Amino acid sequence: MNWTHKDLLGIRELSREEILFLLDTADSFRDISRRAIKKVPTLRGKTVVTLFYEPSTRTRVSFEIAAKRLSADTINMSASSSSTVKGETLMDTARNLEAMRPDVIIMRHSMPGAPLMLSRILDSSVINAGDGSHEHPTQALLDLFTMKERKETLDGLRVAIVGDIVHSRVARSNIFALRKFDTEVTCCAPPTMLPPGLEALGVKVTHNLEEAVANKDVIMMLRIQKERGGASAIPSIREYSSFYCLREAHLRRAKRDVIVMHPGPMNRGVEISDQVADGPCSVILNQVENGVAVRMAVLYLLSGGGA
Ligand code: CP
Repeated sequence: MNWTHKDLLGIRELSREEILFLLDTADSFRDISRRAIKKVPTLRGKTVVTLFYEPSTRTRVSFEIAAKRLSADTINMSASSSSTVKGETLMDTARNLEAMRPDVIIMRHSMPGAPLMLSRILDSSVINAGDGSHEHPTQALLDLFTMKERKETLDGLRVAIVGDIVHSRVARSNIFALRKFDTEVTCCAPPTMLPPGLEALGVKVTHNLEEAVANKDVIMMLRIQKERGGASAIPSIREYSSFYCLREAHLRRAKRDVIVMHPGPMNRGVEISDQVADGPCSVILNQVENGVAVRMAVLYLLSGGGA
């Protein structure tokens, strides 16, 4: 397959075949991170800029490690250390960065569509590292990679996504991705944390956690997105956790080989108990490890590796 996309802005615009091609490419990069010398010359001479206007631990570091393991030069910029604080617009910042001829710009922003706006004016490839509550494509790709690694195939999987769905770019990207396969997706949250018309995306909806996890292969827990007003959708964190915190007892209702996922950052005791987060069903740190291979594949393909 030839990779034809200049940018990676969302999962919605990728085909099932393109997702599988990307996951296969990631598989071929995975072993590099397990070697003593974790570096290949694949992207030598390429320049990758990360431009983060929202906090991040996993995504930013994972992209930087991925780029460095492919021998690209990396430059990291956060909003607080950029000229944004002096009043420069996003578009002017982007045009100034482009003038220095980077090959890839990886962007996180609170405004849905910000990476799309950049991609329309820049020749560099733009990767969406999370835009508001819109999409987080590399998170969904690493989630699918982890599901495929554990379950061999995506088709036939029964997946529960639980938490602040309405504010979650991770939920949206995963729903778009999983619905391109023959999966059953159930979203679970209080009514105030579910967007209207969710069923139109082909998912089931429930407000009951016991019902959501029953007979599932995968349970994906999400945190309350306080920065997007998630906490105002519920009476109190304590009440929320009494109904929606995943505990060991819930796992007994799921399939015996169920895996528990979380994109991070976790709020222990709110949406997930310590026993589940650190227990045998948890693949949360495997997701983080797989994120490096998936982002290596994304950087490689957008830099012309799949042409
Ligand atoms: N999953 C995720 O996006 O984590 P960060 O906010 O730490 O990047």
